[in-house]
Amino acid sequence: MKHQVRDLHEYFQIRELAEQQPEKFWTAIAETFEWTKKWDNILDYDLKKADVKWFEGGELNITENCIDRHIEKRGDQVAIIFEPNDPSEKEQRITYNELAEQVNRMANVLCQEGVEKGDRVCVYLPMIPELAYTVLACARIGAIHSVVFAGFSASALASRINDASCKMVVTADGGFRGDKTIDLKGIVNKALEDTSSVERTLVVRRTGADVHMENGRDEWLSEKLEKANSFFAPEKMDSEDPLFILYTSGSTGKPKGMVHTTAGYMVYAAYSFQNVFQYEADDVYWCTADIGWITGHTYIVYGPLLNGATTVMFEGVPSYPDFDRFWQIVEKYEINQFYTAPTAIRSLAKQGAEHVEKHDLSSLKVLGTVGEPINEEAWNWYHHHVGQERCPIVDTWWQTETGGIMIAPIPFTTPTKATYASFPLPGVQPALLDEEGDEIGDNVVSGNLCIKFPWPGMARTIWNNHQRYIDTYFARYPGYYFTGDAALRDPAGYYRITGRVDDVIIVSGHNLGTAPIENVINEHQNVAESAIVGYSHEVKGNALYGYITLKNELSEEEQDHLRNEINGLIADHVGPIAKLSKMQFTSSLPKTRSGKIMRRILRKIAAGELDQLGDTSTLLNPECVEEIIENRV
Ligand code: PRX
Repeated sequence: MKHQVRDLHEYFQIRELAEQQPEKFWTAIAETFEWTKKWDNILDYDLKKADVKWFEGGELNITENCIDRHIEKRGDQVAIIFEPNDPSEKEQRITYNELAEQVNRMANVLCQEGVEKGDRVCVYLPMIPELAYTVLACARIGAIHSVVFAGFSASALASRINDASCKMVVTADGGFRGDKTIDLKGIVNKALEDTSSVERTLVVRRTGADVHMENGRDEWLSEKLEKANSFFAPEKMDSEDPLFILYTSGSTGKPKGMVHTTAGYMVYAAYSFQNVFQYEADDVYWCTADIGWITGHTYIVYGPLLNGATTVMFEGVPSYPDFDRFWQIVEKYEINQFYTAPTAIRSLAKQGAEHVEKHDLSSLKVLGTVGEPINEEAWNWYHHHVGQERCPIVDTWWQTETGGIMIAPIPFTTPTKATYASFPLPGVQPALLDEEGDEIGDNVVSGNLCIKFPWPGMARTIWNNHQRYIDTYFARYPGYYFTGDAALRDPAGYYRITGRVDDVIIVSGHNLGTAPIENVINEHQNVAESAIVGYSHEVKGNALYGYITLKNELSEEEQDHLRNEINGLIADHVGPIAKLSKMQFTSSLPKTRSGKIMRRILRKIAAGELDQLGDTSTLLNPECVEEIIENRV
């Protein structure tokens, strides 16, 4: 891959070139891929209309670039290492040859079962190799995959299936996670009661559980795979054909189906992987995310495979069977690049360094973090105990919407600084804007983080709702993409992401919109109204604090019961990740005169910053503030 940055001087040169001549810059990178037809036009855009097209006129299939083109040189090299949940189960080492065979077989099965180019396929699988095969098989056919994290509830799954009118669901009889098994098929069965678009469900055997298979709709996958042909001619895709939909929380109730398209996403995934992880031939790379999130899409599947890398897929959790599971895997495979989330680092740090010290981590070269701001203490622990002060930490800032990493150090090039994601990758043009929409100058500043020029990996729209795409990301600052995050920039130009400026809260690295959770709570017959805010939490980064007003007074015992019911409802309708850590029942919520809940005050109370409530006299009901403070939990 060209444009691998090697020193800081070169970094600034390339960044300058990318800014002055973006078309030339991205062309040189795009040239390194296999195209069935080269593009006519590199870039066409109008950010005010959120209309962006890269490499128009080009034709390609991303799986030819992830798989076929590696076969000659590295057919016998391992592409994916699958490490099961239970260490006593043997791992699978899947070579590029084997990956090709599996993906082709899967593509044939999907095709036989009626999936065509442009159809949407919902993938609701645990972290097993079939998940990667299915995603790639969809891409080979030209079907649009919509992976839903296998921790989401039946109703969250149903709403995603309905939004994209998925024709097929690929799932498993169940999934292993630590000492639990998850009844994925049961959840799918329940979800499908509320959907009408799904014609076929294909089921992978994983746990061996006895599950209900609906006649005429559900089929076991393995027999079909064995019989399928091991070649499927890759569909020619236009550069701007959708590759996948991935849902992310928004500040209103409905999740946003972010749409990524083929060529731009491919170029950006490969480019960012290569530069941020400095992967070299024969390295073994491991990203601990789940493929249900964007991190898994771009940095377990597409980015590594596009680069012919060896990528690890881990089915389990960091704490099972013990808290040294991550480090045991690092030692076992001699991992060179390790990419995880700050919440995982904090929870493992809490268990003590002895779990790390038990293992030989000398293979590690680069460490990464993603998903939320990393606090200094966690950064230092990671640097000292895991990286042995030898490995640069790449704190990577990006989003589902950006497709790939946007701001991150280049290891061995950019001097790292705890809590700073540092510089943009060449080709990314960040800006900090003030409330008036003016760009803020060069000195130490903070502002709303925007991107002022298109990059190939950006999402192109929200499925079925381009207006919402414009309104959410392009309307507040016309001519810019607005990230929803605030950031600081220091005099050296280093960026530090400080957090969200909208009603999205990041809990354990997961994006949660407050509105959908409040909607669930408000459905309860005893609840009049609710407001959720985030507060700082030692392990999760942020946790959720719910203020809830009740329709009638309840006894202590009834309140305890209600707390359980509310968290049960949230787990069922949104997912267990969204449960409230604290719940306070109150007689009213602070409101502005126009009736809007003043979340700012609720946030301060949750944080215990009682001297910083500001002026409460303009509230409609200032008297409620005292009551809320008094009963704070
Ligand atoms: O607030 C930022 C935070 O995560 C948000 C994006 O979440 P999601 O779309 O789920 O993607 C997560 C994986 C890319 C961002 O708007 N975020 C992500 N990475 C960082 C971060 N905040 C601070 N530092 C980071 N490195």
